Amino acid sequence: MLNILIIHGPNLNLLGEREPDIYGSLTLKDVNQHISQFASQNNIELKIFQSNHEGELIDFLHDNRKWADGLVINPGAFTHYSYALRDAIAGTQLPAVEVHLSDIHKREEFRKISVIKEVCIQQIAGKGADSYIEGVQSLINYHAEAE
Ligand code: DQA
Repeated sequence: MLNILIIHGPNLNLLGEREPDIYGSLTLKDVNQHISQFASQNNIELKIFQSNHEGELIDFLHDNRKWADGLVINPGAFTHYSYALRDAIAGTQLPAVEVHLSDIHKREEFRKISVIKEVCIQQIAGKGADSYIEGVQSLINYHAEAE
């Protein structure tokens, strides 16, 4: 049994209505159901959290760092400039996977830069809700290899 944190950053609460041509038509609830289904099939317990506030994301990481075996995070726009979030992830010492619904490497220049990437074991982008599934799978593989 693995305990995994799923963290969604700013504006992801508006999935489904927010720029659907880029982010798709699934709502955040749909995305979370998709992840939860995969988790239950793989003996994984999840804590899922979304916030539009940097400090709340950091507090959630701090509060759950001892419970978790890893985290999958879509930092939203914080990806591109939040050193505070990067330091918080590094500080947990947990294996982390950075995920994005869209392919950030095929969009505006500023989206190609991630200040989070270096504190993660992997970055997965452009696969819609399946980016999160691949993120969870990556943590499963990481722990299997560590055993
Ligand atoms: C995003 C990509 C970011 O550049 C953007 O700011 C988001 C969503 C994605 O999932 O594709 O809010 O993280």
